Amino acid sequence: MTARLHAETGLDEAVLHELVQAFYAKVRSDAQLGPIFESRIVDWEPHLDRMTAFWSSVALMTGRYHGAPVPKHIGLPVRWSHFERWLSLFRETAVEVCPPAGAAHVIERAERIARSLNMAIQDADRDGVPSLSRADNG
Ligand code: HEM
Repeated sequence: MTARLHAETGLDEAVLHELVQAFYAKVRSDAQLGPIFESRIVDWEPHLDRMTAFWSSVALMTGRYHGAPVPKHIGLPVRWSHFERWLSLFRETAVEVCPPAGAAHVIERAERIARSLNMAIQDADRDGVPSLSRADNG
């Protein structure tokens, strides 16, 4: 599966490493997003390693990431406009760093995950409790 995804997208660990490094460099110097990240992440190196493992799992299905992103985002002071900014920096970086098919591949996945994180955050804001899966709620 990983070999097939690599062949189809041109993505590999080196490209994903570069994507994560370049993307978070932009995020950290962004006026809207930078302060939100800087106030929560003290040690960037483990965060960037975790994010490379995450993208390896998402884009190449390597299973390298073992974590739960949703609870880490619940309670962050963000609305959809923050995710739009996040996605705009991500799209820009993906096009700069990845081969075209690889950029399309990671952008599509980032858009889908951003929507679901945003929904989880809004849901938790409404209820006061994290709501991870609400099958009864459509
Ligand atoms: C406005 C948008 C976003 C903000 C402000 C944000 C902020 C953060 C922060 C502060 C952390 C560190 C949390 C901690 O260690 O306590 C984090 C972790 C993480 N974020 Fe985001 N994030 C955003 C969007 C996204 C999106 C769109 C994705 C996926 C496509 C994503 C994936 C992750 C992952 C995988 C982690 C690591 C979770 C773990 O510790 O395993 N984030 N984010």
